[in-house]
Amino acid sequence: MTQATAPLIDPFARAISYLRVSVTDRCDFRCVYCMAENMTFLPKADLLTLEELDRMCSAFVRMGVEKLRITGGEPLVRKGIMTFFRAMSRHLDSGALKELTLTTNGSQLAKYATELAECGVRRINVSLDTLDPDKFARITRWGRLPQVLDGIAAAQAAGLRVKINAVALKGFNEDEQFSITDWCAQNGHDLTWIEVMPMGDLGNENRLDQYWSLKDLRARYAERFALTDLTERSGGPARYVRIEETGQKIGFITPLTHNFCESCNRVRLTCTGELYMCLGQEDMADLRAPLRSSVGDAALEAAIRTAISHKPKGHDFDYSRTGVTGKMTRHMSHTGG
Ligand code: 5AD
Ligand code: SF4
Repeated sequence: MTQATAPLIDPFARAISYLRVSVTDRCDFRCVYCMAENMTFLPKADLLTLEELDRMCSAFVRMGVEKLRITGGEPLVRKGIMTFFRAMSRHLDSGALKELTLTTNGSQLAKYATELAECGVRRINVSLDTLDPDKFARITRWGRLPQVLDGIAAAQAAGLRVKINAVALKGFNEDEQFSITDWCAQNGHDLTWIEVMPMGDLGNENRLDQYWSLKDLRARYAERFALTDLTERSGGPARYVRIEETGQKIGFITPLTHNFCESCNRVRLTCTGELYMCLGQEDMADLRAPLRSSVGDAALEAAIRTAISHKPKGHDFDYSRTGVTGKMTRHMSHTGG
């Protein structure tokens, strides 16, 4: 039974209505901009159990979170994850939660799409940077394109709307800008381009070399199509344009070149129960200790309120000419993108 409590408002009067939850740091792919090939993952004992994830998310829902996005790593490789989706669907049924969604690499969708739809999931984001099988294998290292395309087809067959997220990578998928756009139009998928972010360790991959400005990408669209800027915002970093010729809506996520923090409505929970108030700041609160300290949720709720009262005004990413500043040392697979 969900008893509503006072909503979460941060020091800058932003209501926190959107929680992104990473349910695992593991993934069956090794995208070069995300993970090292020989990633060391967290010991399983550090992870919140499925029951703890339920308690954690349910507390946030009681405190006014209306949108839950499940991320990873790859959320669908977490063992028993459908138990968690089933548990969250009760908050959709009660009306407290308005949207339950996930970001996935698509590899497990053929298996889970129907069940996700049964749990009340309506829309999903699938990460897909190229439609070329060889390039796909190169960028994901361990992924295989047909598996993902089958997953996307299964999602559509189950009635899920699919949004494609493509990381814009210089010299990698520049030549596919229009073929990916056409493919999305033909299959009825929305499309969002994401600027590559300075997360994790750079390893052998120098992200400054991979950086492809979305300004440039937009300019290329503008050479071919009539574009209309859409004013709608999702409370997140995406901006949208409509291609008048096709009616397609294209999103741009440019965390590095635009400041979107003023409308930020979100916080991120890691799979170990750390709450990050801002993607671009190191500041976090441990919620696992208060969660585990008692069977009741009073300590947890107090810790959540204290954490939100520390949500910073904005982030600090900046690609400067001399290098990357504001670079985060944690991986996207840790905070869940
Ligand atoms: N820069 C931009 N996007 C990234 N993702 C993972 N690592 C990075 C990065 N360094 C994206 C994935 C996926 C989402 C979960 O995060 O491609 O779309
Ligand atoms: Fe896995 Fe997504 Fe990271 Fe690729 S970007 S390794 S699919 S978590």
